[in-house]
Amino acid sequence: MKALIASGGHGTRLRPLTHTQNKHLIPIANKPILHYAIEAAVDAGIKQIGIIHNADSKEVPNAIGNGKRWGVKITFIPQKTPAGLAHVVKIAEKFIGKDNFIFYLGDNMVVGGVKRFIDEFEKSDCNCWLTLSRVKDPERFGVPVIKNNKIIKVEEKPSKPKSQFAVAGIYIYDRHIFEAVKKIKPSARGEYEISDAHTYLIEHGYKVGYSEITGWWKDTGKPADLLEANRLVLDNIEPNIKGDTDKISSVLGKVILEEGSKVVNSVIRGPAIIGKNAVIENSYIGPFTSIGNNTIIQNAEVEYSIVLRDSKIMNVKLRIEGSILGNDVEIVEANGKPHVHRFMIGDQSRVEVA
Ligand code: DAU
Repeated sequence: MKALIASGGHGTRLRPLTHTQNKHLIPIANKPILHYAIEAAVDAGIKQIGIIHNADSKEVPNAIGNGKRWGVKITFIPQKTPAGLAHVVKIAEKFIGKDNFIFYLGDNMVVGGVKRFIDEFEKSDCNCWLTLSRVKDPERFGVPVIKNNKIIKVEEKPSKPKSQFAVAGIYIYDRHIFEAVKKIKPSARGEYEISDAHTYLIEHGYKVGYSEITGWWKDTGKPADLLEANRLVLDNIEPNIKGDTDKISSVLGKVILEEGSKVVNSVIRGPAIIGKNAVIENSYIGPFTSIGNNTIIQNAEVEYSIVLRDSKIMNVKLRIEGSILGNDVEIVEANGKPHVHRFMIGDQSRVEVA
């Protein structure tokens, strides 16, 4: 069994964060999203992982490396344009060869790993194994049409979904998927849809089985999904205090203070993670907050938020909540008169003021 992980695409729904970094490298609980996908494959015992990345950028290969740190071999496969997930599979044929493989979308996160799905696929005589998750908004996803407990079709982002399930971005295949991805035509939006490849398999007599994901699964396509994923990962962290806290501060609940971090006259109410060399001074950090490396929070309150590295939040009167701040961002008090809001914000940013 090999693993194929997709990390290409434009990440348009996560702009402006994705103007300057690949969405799969955005950290959740201070760890790039893509690491969770790699670790899911590693935990399932997979030794050879192929990662699809945008051909015009070496950002992902440079950040991930050759896999040595996970004890696996990672092969990078460049994709010239994000032509769709079936195209991703097509260009990986040489890497996969005749092996079975798990195809994992690098922006998906699942609790409990993927080994259980691989085991079910291997016990079955199926050519393709899908994972389904019950969602409130199936029209955002590939949606299975199910009859007598069998998937008879998969529709991509249907306006009138025929079930409450999303097909999650964790698929297991044998080599017949390559026949499907070569035969299908682009959809109305111009992409080679993985859902069409699944329907092709069904219509051509191949067996498509499925498991329901009963626990937590998330496609981190939108900003609110990132915050929710961050909440879930933090909820499951092991506390670990490597930083310094002074006597008048309190660090409560599950908190990770990474090396070199400092907490001065502050309250940190976990679950939360404070990155390397970050400083929290005269401040409150509330539950479900990730603070990146070298970030400084002074005279401010931050809760249910993700703040990336090298940022500064200083002398802000109102609590910051439900927010995502990129790398090297500053939110500071406006000095002098008149008393104003003063912004210096890049394209496609969003600010909500009280
Ligand atoms: O998350 C599950 C959903 O993922 C499925 O229910 C849908 O059937 C499936 O089409 C896909 O829908 P999305 O709209 O979420 O796909 P997105 O374009 O966001 O791409 C998913 C991942 O694959 C993301 O990590 C980017 C990467 N990708 C995407 C395309 C289109 C590539 O690496 N290359 C590509 O050509």
